[in-house]
Amino acid sequence: MKPKTRLGTGIGAGLIFLVLVAAAPAFAHAVARSRHLSEIARGRMLTFTCIGCHGLRGIDVTYPFYNVPKVAGQNRQYLYHALMDYRRNLREFPTMRAQAHSMTIHDLSDIATYFASLRGQVTTRTPLYSRSEAQAGAKLITTCAACHGLHGIAVAPEFPDLAGQYPSYLVRALEEYQSGQRKNAIMNSMAAHLSHRDMVDIANYFASQKGPLGQLPKR
Ligand code: HEC
Ligand code: HEC
Repeated sequence: MKPKTRLGTGIGAGLIFLVLVAAAPAFAHAVARSRHLSEIARGRMLTFTCIGCHGLRGIDVTYPFYNVPKVAGQNRQYLYHALMDYRRNLREFPTMRAQAHSMTIHDLSDIATYFASLRGQVTTRTPLYSRSEAQAGAKLITTCAACHGLHGIAVAPEFPDLAGQYPSYLVRALEEYQSGQRKNAIMNSMAAHLSHRDMVDIANYFASQKGPLGQLPKR
């Protein structure tokens, strides 16, 4: 009887062990997920002041000279990097610098996680993209596609998605890279040789594409 019992106990313990081993990844996943959700919730609370300019879900509000960029659905790594660049004074826009300076690095990380967790929406109001300019721009984006994708959906999370972004903002960003107001080694050299006409056409091309930032109607 005795050996049999021990065997039984051994099998029982083995089974428990197997169940635990099998459950461990699920448990780790659940912990990671709940951490992710709490980061999103924290990020959301930190963005109440941003809504005035970036819109209720992070998109669709106009600014006098160009449209405030869509951030809902943008790549997390890129967003974090962009916020850190305002903090490091590598980008100029004063309000964004002030916002980024007034927050901790932890705050900026949670904000990036929150914006990236949102879905971009179809924009129904102006601004629109121009179809003829988009067609002209399609011929100019061969180099850009290596990082931003042929259709404006970035090939890696450290690059921004451009699909569906406001054309006026894309032009503005390219102008800032060209003038050096926005500092980024790759983009400073990419924008160096573009004419204003090229920038407008390229911006309209990427704006006309559909992606996680949502879609713009055409003109
Ligand atoms: C006064 C209006 C205003 C407010 C308030 C504001 N933003 Fe911005 N934000 C802008 C503008 C305009 C730009 C583009 C500036 C530029 O060209 O560098 C921008 C750029 C950004 C970018 C970079 C987007 C990209 O594609 O590179 C991020 C991320 C961002 N804002 C997040 C925030 C967060 C988070 C807050 C709140 C803590 C906030 N913004 C508050 C107007 C605003
Ligand atoms: C080698 C990779 C690479 C190539 C090629 C490239 N980009 Fe970029 N692009 C980047 C990176 C990285 C950033 C983010 C830079 C920063 O942090 O300011 C960026 C940012 C941008 C932005 C700003 C987006 C925003 O939300 O603020 C625009 C617009 C842009 N690129 C357009 C272009 C165009 C147009 C071309 C082709 C002429 C091009 N890029 C080629 C890597 C690249």
